[in-house]
Amino acid sequence: MSYYKVKDLENYFKMYKKSVREPRKFWDRIADENFVWYQRWDKVFEYDMQEAQFKWFLNAKVNITKNCIDRHLAKRGDKTAIIFEPNNPSEAAQHISYNELYVRVSKMANVLRDLGIKKGDRVCIYLPMIPDLAIAVLACARIGAIHSVVFAGFSAGALEARITDSDCKMVITSDGAYRGDKTINLKSIVDEALEKCPSVEKVLVVKRTNENVSMKDGRDIWAQPLLDAAMDNNVAEIMDAEDPLFILYTSGSTGKPKGMVHTTAGYMVYTAYTFKNVFNYEENDVYWCTADIGWITGHSYILYGPLLNGATTVIFEGVPSYPDFSRFWEVIEKHQVNQFYTAPTAIRALAKESIDYVQKFPLSSLKVIGSVGEPINEEAWHWYNDHVGGKRCPLVDTWWQTETGGIMVSPLPFITPTKPTYASLPLPGIQPVLMDELRNEIEGNQVTGSLCIKFPWPSIARTIWGDHQRYIDTYFKAFPGKYFTGDGALRDEVGYYRITGRVDDVIIVSGHNLGTAPIEDAINEHPAVAESAIVGFPHDIKGNALYGYVILKESGEYRNHDNLRKEINQLISDQVGPIAKLDKIQFVNGLPKTRSGKIMRRILRKIAEGDFSNFGDTSTLLNPEIVDEIKEGKI
Ligand code: WTA
Repeated sequence: MSYYKVKDLENYFKMYKKSVREPRKFWDRIADENFVWYQRWDKVFEYDMQEAQFKWFLNAKVNITKNCIDRHLAKRGDKTAIIFEPNNPSEAAQHISYNELYVRVSKMANVLRDLGIKKGDRVCIYLPMIPDLAIAVLACARIGAIHSVVFAGFSAGALEARITDSDCKMVITSDGAYRGDKTINLKSIVDEALEKCPSVEKVLVVKRTNENVSMKDGRDIWAQPLLDAAMDNNVAEIMDAEDPLFILYTSGSTGKPKGMVHTTAGYMVYTAYTFKNVFNYEENDVYWCTADIGWITGHSYILYGPLLNGATTVIFEGVPSYPDFSRFWEVIEKHQVNQFYTAPTAIRALAKESIDYVQKFPLSSLKVIGSVGEPINEEAWHWYNDHVGGKRCPLVDTWWQTETGGIMVSPLPFITPTKPTYASLPLPGIQPVLMDELRNEIEGNQVTGSLCIKFPWPSIARTIWGDHQRYIDTYFKAFPGKYFTGDGALRDEVGYYRITGRVDDVIIVSGHNLGTAPIEDAINEHPAVAESAIVGFPHDIKGNALYGYVILKESGEYRNHDNLRKEINQLISDQVGPIAKLDKIQFVNGLPKTRSGKIMRRILRKIAEGDFSNFGDTSTLLNPEIVDEIKEGKI
């Protein structure tokens, strides 16, 4: 029997118990049976939760790209590794086989080495969602350089902060990027960022849009001529299990961004294992995750997880609304996608549009649909489940974080019965606990608390780049001996977890703890409402009162706002309780969101409080203009 793939519910419970009782044996077996190693480990893991020290597969030697590419060549050389679907549907899709991926990664790896990049050097990758992005990432991993991918929607300031924080020696970028009907001159953003980045010696530029760009002598180099001349094979660097694989910055809501560090072997084992189980990937399936590789979801579940399993993974350059709102569904049909993984924010945006966009397509190739990044509200869950999954595809609501490296809590398709808005059960090896304010573990079911993980898993982040103390303080201080996720969760009567949102989003009204997510769920159920966000603001008697920002769908018949306010509060009253009624409701055209789709509640809180003095760092906002608009609406 192999431990790698969970077979049925009974087997899940058996595996789960095994992983808790005998974690060393459990992970030893998975690591042993499913990867190629230069040298085996002496010990499966070693840890200290107080000091945040984690080591997995000690002294093993491995290269993750050997596992992502080389070992597939004999059996799957001609199989498509990557399908590239361009922004513009009239541009042909590309199919890159494992053989071709090997050649392209080898060439890039050779170019990087020739330009002086060595094991341990940091390379910043600032590229749109094109195959070169995947190839650059893998080429870094091939030669042991630490990649730091920065989402290509970030501004020059955010890019500069990230390059400087980890002293990157090189930036890999492109002339430009296509995004919907826009063309963005990426190179000029890099130029601006680099005015203040002395560590960067070389900028390698790939061509995408054929923009006119300025190339700085001695620093900037076109990639293509070097790639053409490079050798088409490459001997992979031998990496220690604990050598850093990458740094990825989390979209911090305050302070400077946190460069989460992931290391090689544990990350490899965990992303491969979770990809296989959570998406039930079978040979010849086509898998598509719509995230950007600039986020952890893209790292773990567009690149590493799928390639480690020899899968076919789609890289989509575009956006869900271009050329129209049927783009996702059209791409699923075109490439006969079997597993589709996206974010609730995209689902809600698409559900707001005409149902015809999705109903035009049978979507019969789909087998599993997934959600990630934020709590999926009940209305969105049902829309996704009914109209995309056709009520026949299991919807896997996957909870995890940049810091966790891989999926932690999720249903397993065809195994775990799904329940709307519930991420359900922990994966084998993951030991979640709920904690109360007194730092006690809350036992039993039908309880809520702060979500912590009480035992390490292979892909837990090892540190914050350059600031281990901050890592300890942020994640291991609040509940000593445990990893604190920052999220709140509810455990229902059968032990299913529902993530209720960030704990810092919990608002205490008249002594009652209220999570924002369930209240927003209730509001969103109103047929006139597209999206909402609630925050707390100080109140003389209740301590805090609730302030709701509500985006309406574009329907004319709901113009009578006062009635609408009453109806919304009635819904909340019915579903959450009268205590959760909103004191103020402001109708807005949009919400301030980070580029990864998270609502920046900090700003909404300030506006609700009437404090317009200092909104802090808004450089990561996708739509900074909305802040003034909301502010003016308030005044
Ligand atoms: C939230 C994204 C509810 C959560 C992989 C977490 C979720 C944060 C879910 C991490 C989910 C992610 N249900 N909430 N299925 N998935 N979150 O680092 O608050 O970008 O702490 O990682 O997103 O966001 P990050």
